[in-house]
Amino acid sequence: MELSVSLLLSFASSVILIIGSYKVLFRRRKGALPPGPRPWPIVGNIPELPKNRDWRTYEKWAKEYGSVVSLSLGIFGDPMIIINKFDIARDLMNGRSANSADRPFLISAEAKGDDWMISSASGHPHKVRRAIASRYYSGPAAKNYQIIQQDETHDLLCAIAASPDDLHNHLKRFGANIVLLSTYGYRIQESSDPVLVRIHEGIKYTDSDLGILGFLLETFPMLRYYPTWLPFSGFQKKLASSREVIMASLRDEPFAKSKRLIAEGNAMPCLVSTLLEDGPDETQENLIRDCAGVMYAAGADSTAATLYSFFLGATLFPSFYKQAQQELDTVIGGDRLPTIHDRLHLPFTEAVVLELLRWNVVTPLGIPHRVISDDFYEGMLIPAGATITANEWTILHDPVTFPNPDTFDPYRFLGPGSEERKEIVGVVWG
Ligand code: HEM
Repeated sequence: MELSVSLLLSFASSVILIIGSYKVLFRRRKGALPPGPRPWPIVGNIPELPKNRDWRTYEKWAKEYGSVVSLSLGIFGDPMIIINKFDIARDLMNGRSANSADRPFLISAEAKGDDWMISSASGHPHKVRRAIASRYYSGPAAKNYQIIQQDETHDLLCAIAASPDDLHNHLKRFGANIVLLSTYGYRIQESSDPVLVRIHEGIKYTDSDLGILGFLLETFPMLRYYPTWLPFSGFQKKLASSREVIMASLRDEPFAKSKRLIAEGNAMPCLVSTLLEDGPDETQENLIRDCAGVMYAAGADSTAATLYSFFLGATLFPSFYKQAQQELDTVIGGDRLPTIHDRLHLPFTEAVVLELLRWNVVTPLGIPHRVISDDFYEGMLIPAGATITANEWTILHDPVTFPNPDTFDPYRFLGPGSEERKEIVGVVWG
């Protein structure tokens, strides 16, 4: 038995090696990829991929290789293309979005149970989920949630005033409630609420790095079907328990609670209640559950992290918030809190928000996309299957567009050149 398993494995490895080499040679005949660090044989640039703060390494490579950098993910993987300039990101990722709006499919994501999330799924369900998300959260639809944002902001201010030392938990609860209310129609009182603790347990699993197992799964996808009765199959149990926790905590439990509260008449109008009104069949209900499930992971921590940055910025550069306070006092007066309708009359405060999004951008690499068909950009091949990502960090810290980029300076968004800078900051939304 042992002999046949090792024979099978060496046969499989040889086939994959031949296919991988063929893929590389075939691609080379089509055109030259964008420049990038020199790849190692077989494994490409995988050994030098940064383990954390990737955007900083990509920024360094941008200085060395230019505005579009390609990385080889070995002979088995498709290349990764990193865009470091706003105009190019706009051309390739917005202008040609029909060819670049897909998401990479990772076998390791499927194995650990988060492939149903919008951010990692491909194909038809992904498009339907994206349509639902953009119909209920983008453009004019976002206005439906302004009242939630306003009420939660007032609640946050009271909480910070009452116990400023607990800032971390207040911001976490604020980000959570914005999403829980708009998606599921309920809110939590404390950041220690069991619903939140459970969701964060799931997020920990989605964030977990499978390490060498992830690399092996992407390289030898058939490992996904490695029988549990064979030796060394312990990883299958680990993956199964990850799938169970992610599905239950992020998808099934918050949705079940929402459905129950809606049936009892105890939920606020929300994404789930609106979509369930049409009487969906089982497949459609699963899509609604997926779509709702991804909202927390996408929206809660990004909101909380942006607010953390505000407090960091205000601590490091206190002059700007004093000026913002002055503007608020002049326009609003001292006897009420600002509402969304005051926004137009608060240009400096608006500039603070834009600078906040730029200065310490919370998704420095956005969420990766996948190229569907071969494309060319200024003579460089952007091959089908490549992962393509905009390095928002480098774009938003380009010293030509944003002089002294590490300084928190809202004045960049007031006066000459501010309109162009505002457009560039839009990259934070992908
Ligand atoms: C400061 C706050 C936020 C930032 C900076 C942010 C940023 C981003 C970025 C960069 C993407 C990737 C877009 C792309 O495909 O290129 C994204 C996707 C997404 N965001 Fe946000 N986001 C924020 C808040 C939210 C909130 C509050 C929600 C929901 C309540 C949300 C829901 C989503 C969803 C569902 C996607 C995935 C869309 C898709 O895959 O097509 N985000 N966000």
